Amino acid sequence: MADNGESTPMEGDHAQMVTPWEVSGKEGGKIDYDKLIDQFGCQRIDSALIERVERLTGRPAHIFLRRGVFFAHRDLTAILDAYERGEKFYLYTGRGPSSEALHLGHLVPFTFTKYLQDAFKVPLVIQLTDDEKCMWKDLSVEESVRLARENAKDIIACGFDVSRTFIFTDFNFVGGKFYKNMIKIAKCVTLNKVFGIFGFNNEDHIGKVFFPTIEAAPAFSSSFPHLFDGQDNIRCLIPCAIDQDPFFRMARDVAPRIGYQKPALIESSFFPALQGESGKMSASDPNSAIYVTDSAKNIKDKVNRYAFSGGQDSIENHRKYGANLEVDIPVKYLGFFLDDDAELEHIKTEYGAGRLLTGEVKKRLIDVLTEMVERHQRVRSAVTDEMVDAFMAVRPLPHMFD
Ligand code: TYM
Ligand code: TRP
Repeated sequence: MADNGESTPMEGDHAQMVTPWEVSGKEGGKIDYDKLIDQFGCQRIDSALIERVERLTGRPAHIFLRRGVFFAHRDLTAILDAYERGEKFYLYTGRGPSSEALHLGHLVPFTFTKYLQDAFKVPLVIQLTDDEKCMWKDLSVEESVRLARENAKDIIACGFDVSRTFIFTDFNFVGGKFYKNMIKIAKCVTLNKVFGIFGFNNEDHIGKVFFPTIEAAPAFSSSFPHLFDGQDNIRCLIPCAIDQDPFFRMARDVAPRIGYQKPALIESSFFPALQGESGKMSASDPNSAIYVTDSAKNIKDKVNRYAFSGGQDSIENHRKYGANLEVDIPVKYLGFFLDDDAELEHIKTEYGAGRLLTGEVKKRLIDVLTEMVERHQRVRSAVTDEMVDAFMAVRPLPHMFD
């Protein structure tokens, strides 16, 4: 299968829309992930691949792998082959600081990246695209810079190891070899191509057209001479949700032409909006999202009020027909964050049979989320400005592969 650099994300289907800036299912329905795999040209993660990860890392697969949250990849097999041969690779992920706080959806790639960093003992670069959000949202340069720093604290609170992690903001770091790579990339991408991949049009400003080179550059190790001095072609693995795939389709397409390895990807589905699985949880719609800053009361109110229920409209009907688990958001959320497989199965069986009520399932979800968010808040409150500076210092990481 070829990397499909030319196809628009919505080709052949004008209803489902998945781009880095918009996610919606066909006619308000669920996102069709099989279709995305076909359209984007990535591959499904199967149980043999998961077992291989377990074998190579000597630890059980993360809940997000086990439950199929990370469901697609590009060239992950090549990364594992290389790792097995003793070759090095690094991780790259990022965040576009568009809001003061992260929401639960953002925790998905970051918690997973933290697991990968611990399991493979590899360095990690995290890009904060303050420039992107300044161009796409109505944010001033100064406000974007401020949000990036606030977001960095939430990211650090996910537990990254400062001796193996470099966090940077575009406004501060773009230059030098990073910028040289951007220009090499830019020379390989025509307007035609960037319109095709990202769906831009003639009315978009020129910043948008150039931005993809900025998100692609960190996929090449030579962009970070302070980390990988002289090792200009180390493999890169990018964990992200599948909305970011277009950037890296472009990067993979360009890579051989500028003498670099194609970056590999491991991609997740979306943590859905409270309202249902036709959209991702999004920071720009406060009612769709639970933020890591929400109080126990906020969480309780949002879940009770907005979380779309697959339960029946009356207790009698519910006892008789049971809940429709296919559309039920509380069950879906528990699938992401309730670690205990047996308990999850029990809830699904009982709820599906109408013996558990929506209110009871929501209560369990509220407990799980509250505990998780309160833990995050405790760690986050201990993250100081000095720690942010330490993660962002342009410095070598001498023991990053140990
Ligand atoms: P951003 O800030 O929109 O999202 C940050 C990361 O979170 C993922 N994500 C989600 N994952 C699961 N469920 C959701 N509801 C959800 N919403 C967002 C995103 O896919 C992303 O992995 N342009 C990027 C920043 C960036 C980046 C990168 C991301 C720069 N370089 C490299 C990933 C990899 C952005 O605005 O992400
Ligand atoms: N898409 C790749 C290409 O065109 C083919 C490929 C190889 C691939 N290994 C993969 C795609 C793993 C996805 C995942 O060169």
